[in-house]
Amino acid sequence: MRQVLNSRRVLWEATDSVVSRFVNTHVEQPMSRTTFGALILAAGKGTRMFSPRPKVLMELLGKPMLGYLFQVLDPLFPGKVWSVIGHQADMVRSMFCERSKGWIEQTEQLGTGHALQVAWQDLADADLDYVIVANGDTPLLPAEDIIALMRAGQDSDIAFLTLTLDDPGAFGRVVRTGGEVAAIIEAKDYDPAEHGIPTGEINAGIYCIKLKSTQAFLAELGNDNKNGEYYITDLVGMAVEAGLTVKGVNCGDKPQLLGINSPAELVAMEETLRESKVLDLLSSGVLIRSKDQVRIGPDVTIEPGAEIEGPCELLGSTTIARGVLVHSHCLILDSTIGAGSRIRHFSHVENAEVGQECIVGPYARLRPGAKLLREARVGNFVEVKKATLGRGSKANHLTYLGDAEVGEGVNIGAGTITCNYDGKNKFITTIEDNAFIGSNTALVAPVTVGKNALVGAGSTVTKDVGENEMAIGRGRQQNLPKKGGS
Ligand code: UD1
Ligand code: CA
Repeated sequence: MRQVLNSRRVLWEATDSVVSRFVNTHVEQPMSRTTFGALILAAGKGTRMFSPRPKVLMELLGKPMLGYLFQVLDPLFPGKVWSVIGHQADMVRSMFCERSKGWIEQTEQLGTGHALQVAWQDLADADLDYVIVANGDTPLLPAEDIIALMRAGQDSDIAFLTLTLDDPGAFGRVVRTGGEVAAIIEAKDYDPAEHGIPTGEINAGIYCIKLKSTQAFLAELGNDNKNGEYYITDLVGMAVEAGLTVKGVNCGDKPQLLGINSPAELVAMEETLRESKVLDLLSSGVLIRSKDQVRIGPDVTIEPGAEIEGPCELLGSTTIARGVLVHSHCLILDSTIGAGSRIRHFSHVENAEVGQECIVGPYARLRPGAKLLREARVGNFVEVKKATLGRGSKANHLTYLGDAEVGEGVNIGAGTITCNYDGKNKFITTIEDNAFIGSNTALVAPVTVGKNALVGAGSTVTKDVGENEMAIGRGRQQNLPKKGGS
């Protein structure tokens, strides 16, 4: 992950190749005989978030905080990333299943130092020399800073990243004597009379810990502080007192290293990320109108020559090809939009594949498994789920296509419904090439409408319709004399 900082914004470029270039040039060669692993502290409840969800699952631009951390740590420490979880542990584990080398449960969350105590045996069993410990609420942690920390850490017993802020707020304060780190004192416990006038240098909550030298202090951690918690930060003062080497690596005021503790902090961080992604895309040749109202996730790719109109949200692993036009008020999630397609206003596209030159919407809903082949059209109030619409086929109005295979050149009339569910099981509807389905038709699956077949408007189709046949399945109209008529 590479970031280029300028005075106003942070440009992000998250690519595996950049990370592996970092690893190859900075990590493997100079540190080849040393084993590093990483530990994410993710057990806390996030009380200051007031959310029923665990904090590490809260999202920035549709992606949970923990997802960002795995993305940066996995390539740096392949197969060597552990996570301490506790609050709603099952939910966290199930969302990321395979991502962590080991999930370590901290059943009672007694503080960051306690989290490290709980994880220690697993780290020791893995024969690590050093562990990078990262707070789970620092999602935008840059790879380059981890690498700087590893370099400093290699010559130290404990190293940690620091920031210098105008307002150190509730962060732990770094105390130095003669320029050397003396301790980290948590904001609530900080007493200027004892610790000196605060300098604005704070602990970013990312540490490089040498296992062999730190082990002895772990058991000594106490909780005699304002929060009654076991602080990982106390290890720093203990190590200094014991004459070990401790380094604070200052990263200036890098906003990505700020922990997220409140809704306001989350939204501020998300906005920084959002703005940099949008500006990045604009400079690459994507036209983004009302740019301040466009939310684009970090893993979304958009080719130059595409046009996006805000407000809208493009999230997950969405890819948008050149020449695509996404109108305002659309949500596109984990979907692919082929070149030259147009997603018209108020459409909702999730886990869907839209081929080239298609038209979707306005007010269309493509649900998971919807696949539109080239030049297909889905119009207003049409819902498509787990269904393929063949080349040039059209479902333009008020329709539900679920569990369906629709061939090429098919016309689906207004109000057509695939009745795919009998209360227990789902069944497939097949509509072959060039068939014509009249308006207000119920297709009761499993059922097939053959090539070039015609289904009359208002039909309920319960039997297969053969190639070139015409089916009409409705009550015959009777015209009777009107009662009382003259
Ligand atoms: C922590 C640091 C503080 C630093 C700040 C940087 C301590 C005592 N303080 O404060 O010096 O400036 O981060 O952002 O560490 N967690 C557990 N188990 C627990 C408690 C917490 O896994 O029992 C996890 C949380 O899920 C979170 C991380 O540890 O991801 C940090 O905890 P948090 O309570 O946010 O610490 P801060 O008060 O922000
Ligand atoms: Ca925090």
